[in-house]
Amino acid sequence: MCGIVGYLGKNEKKEILLDGLQELEYRGYDSAGIAVIEGKQLYNFKAVGKLENLKDKTKSYFSEGFGVSIGHTRWATHGKPTELNAHPHLGAYSYVVHNGIIENYQELKKELQSEGVNFLSQTDTETIVHIFEKYNRRENKTPFEAFKKTIERLKGAFATLLITESAPDAIFFAKNGSPMLIGFDGADVYFASSDTPIIGKAKEVYYLEDGEYGYAKTGEVKLFNKDGERTFSTKPLNTDKTSAQKEGYRFFMEKEIYEQSKVMSDTMMGRVKDSSITFDEVDASLLDGIKEIKICACGTSYHSALTASYLFERLAKIRCSVEIASEFRYKEPLLSDDMLFVTISQSGETADTLEALKMAKRAGLKSLSVCNVDNSSIVRESDTAILTRAGIEKGVASTKAFATQTMVLWMLSLYFAQIKDTIDQKKLQDEIDAMRHVPKALLVTDTLHNKLHRLSKRYLHGHGFFFIGRDIFYPLALEGALKLKEISYLHAEGYPAGEMKHGPIALADSELFTIALMPKTLHYDKIKSNVEELSARDATICAISPEPFELADDFIQTEYATHPMLEFFEMMVATQLLALEISVRLSNDVDMPRNLAKSVTVE
Ligand code: AGP
Repeated sequence: MCGIVGYLGKNEKKEILLDGLQELEYRGYDSAGIAVIEGKQLYNFKAVGKLENLKDKTKSYFSEGFGVSIGHTRWATHGKPTELNAHPHLGAYSYVVHNGIIENYQELKKELQSEGVNFLSQTDTETIVHIFEKYNRRENKTPFEAFKKTIERLKGAFATLLITESAPDAIFFAKNGSPMLIGFDGADVYFASSDTPIIGKAKEVYYLEDGEYGYAKTGEVKLFNKDGERTFSTKPLNTDKTSAQKEGYRFFMEKEIYEQSKVMSDTMMGRVKDSSITFDEVDASLLDGIKEIKICACGTSYHSALTASYLFERLAKIRCSVEIASEFRYKEPLLSDDMLFVTISQSGETADTLEALKMAKRAGLKSLSVCNVDNSSIVRESDTAILTRAGIEKGVASTKAFATQTMVLWMLSLYFAQIKDTIDQKKLQDEIDAMRHVPKALLVTDTLHNKLHRLSKRYLHGHGFFFIGRDIFYPLALEGALKLKEISYLHAEGYPAGEMKHGPIALADSELFTIALMPKTLHYDKIKSNVEELSARDATICAISPEPFELADDFIQTEYATHPMLEFFEMMVATQLLALEISVRLSNDVDMPRNLAKSVTVE
């Protein structure tokens, strides 16, 4: 997620902006920049990499007197992390920063280019400043009217600030889908994408609502929505920075579980169309000559890979095999150039996965990576990369990265099915309709969270857990077991439900906790009989299902759904929260579990 700061007033602006961006570092970024307008003077500094690079570039610059200013830390979603792609983006006499995704940017870009506008960057954001100047300078609209008309043209999620030489006493703002707040300290006005950048500066704050926009001048802010101008009231600003970074949640992992619904919309934006799937970054020719997909990953990313193997074969009719990277590296694998080698990695720096990718490339295979960090080693090493757009994931136990990886792979299986013409339009439409319900399926309800909080007290001992599922719910069972192991330190195994009778059922007794994933849309009768076999041997059963199951000792009710993937994502949230609540009861460090690192960059 990108970070935004803004300031209007007489104080020195560079320090205010850089201090504010420093407070946003926890959100992750790959480049940063600031812009200042003081009367007729326009200043703009940008740098790739850490903020130190931007500080170095601005060390001899200091603003003087009244002015308007904006700053930004960028987490790449469109276009590589380069100085040209860093924000603020410049038109002829205006600057803009933006957080979110402009879904119709290509249409706007084509319109502007046909009118002779030259684009410097690959970003969606740059369209904002050129559209503004089109209305302001070429159609002679006032700066505010031009800004209003610009915002009306944008589709998608955005929080944006714009400053312009044609209104050097104002900052224009708009919020729709991405966070933005306005801070007040006397006549000075601040903007930020979260509290922390302005704690210790602003005294009062107003959190913008979706659809609100307007402008700030000295001592005044004019706020509008689709119904016209509106009044607003401020409240005292939070002063605790650490809790502000967690935005009120107890842990980053908890925050990231709750963020899954929102980031999933970003992951899908611009890719899930009304009746088709598109990936600008994946040329259809990638599949030329390809007869098999081999996916390679570690840990949680291996679980999304395993899930994808069912989808690639079922939807795209492409043979798919999955490898654990640390095994793949030393097994002397048989590789051929009709294989597409796919690597999945949240960090893009996992040593085993990176080395496996290099092996495949040495063998002449085409490569595609699904990753959350642009410009990471795995992204740079791959022929093609798809970003999951989950934003930085700070909890060591992966949650939103797994969810967005799985969504990207589901979309990719449909994209490949379109290319290979292995899916009819009706089936494709059914899949797309189901996808559109995923953000809702990921919403965490108080009922569910409270239920899991209460339930967790019963699962703090025992001699272990089995998470069981069938088909795509088997990789989900593996993932649920890993989540629990990682943060509770209790032993848990994920297992194919049909395999329990081939040995593991010998463990069944009242101290064996079985978390049974029982979707109604896929093999329900099969999983039900597997669970009955366990219950008959006195295993303690916690069933997660839309269908009440009378043999369950505990039951977590999920929604009846029209598609297995909707049940998949809802059950994923339940297993994540169960692990979280058990870990909390055991007083473990949820975000930084013992012995673990967020990225395993060594063998
Ligand atoms: C998952 O919760 C763990 N943090 C770990 O298994 C992780 O998924 C694995 O190390 C792979 O990391 P990557 O996705 O960054 O490659």
